[in-house]
Amino acid sequence: MTGRHSPRANLKEARPVAAPMAAGRTEAVPCEADSEAFKAGMRRLAASVTVLTCLGPSGTRHGMTATAICSVSADPPTLLCCINRSSATRELFIAAGSFAINVLSASDHEIATRFASRLPPHQRFSAGHWTSCASGAPLLESAIASFACRLSEVVEIGSHSVIFGEVVETRTRSEHVPPLLYAHGGYGRFAGAARAALPEMMWIPDWHDDF
Ligand SMILES: Cc1cc2nc3c(=O)[nH]c(=O)nc-3n(C[C@H](O)[C@H](O)[C@H](O)COP(=O)(O)O)c2cc1C
Repeated sequence: MTGRHSPRANLKEARPVAAPMAAGRTEAVPCEADSEAFKAGMRRLAASVTVLTCLGPSGTRHGMTATAICSVSADPPTLLCCINRSSATRELFIAAGSFAINVLSASDHEIATRFASRLPPHQRFSAGHWTSCASGAPLLESAIASFACRLSEVVEIGSHSVIFGEVVETRTRSEHVPPLLYAHGGYGRFAGAARAALPEMMWIPDWHDDF
């Protein structure tokens, strides 16, 4: 990638957040900057659930559940994913130089659990129907979208590696298949997402009722 600035160059020191101006009160509210408070905040950020996959050097398929995925650029089509540096799969993604992102459907919650577990690689793939893209990275047939990517850059920031992928192929299913969502430590789905045009989609946090 060209024209990128050092990711740290624009970081400014965190400052306390000023309280809203209530009658006669101007004191600052201390901003909790510790990582537990950060994680508690991020648990409120509902996200689509994906399984990242790659083909390892010995032909073994690898994969892990991830929500830290973000679109970066439409031209060239590029996205990023953030992988914990303690993840066993991280090195394999970087070594493979290519990977795939499978966006899970609401009915894929067991696959999400399986790929976030300590199961060995081959057992993670024993659920679901899998094919592969040109690079060999596994594609999940029930995924509502799959992106085959060429790894273009890795940036290390704190606990995570930010992995940029240039998308070489996109597969999509019908927009009427609802996505699997994750928030507050649990899986859920949009109510009414199967009837895609409904404007009043609602979050159903208790997935036990719904799957
Ligand atoms: C809903 C959910 C989302 C997750 N998102 C991420 C993520 O974005 N990045 C990450 O590194 N780990 C994420 N994890 C944790 C990994 O899936 C988990 O640590 C997995 O066991 C890693 O496998 P590995 O150590 O074999 O690589 C997530 C877990 C869950 C349940």
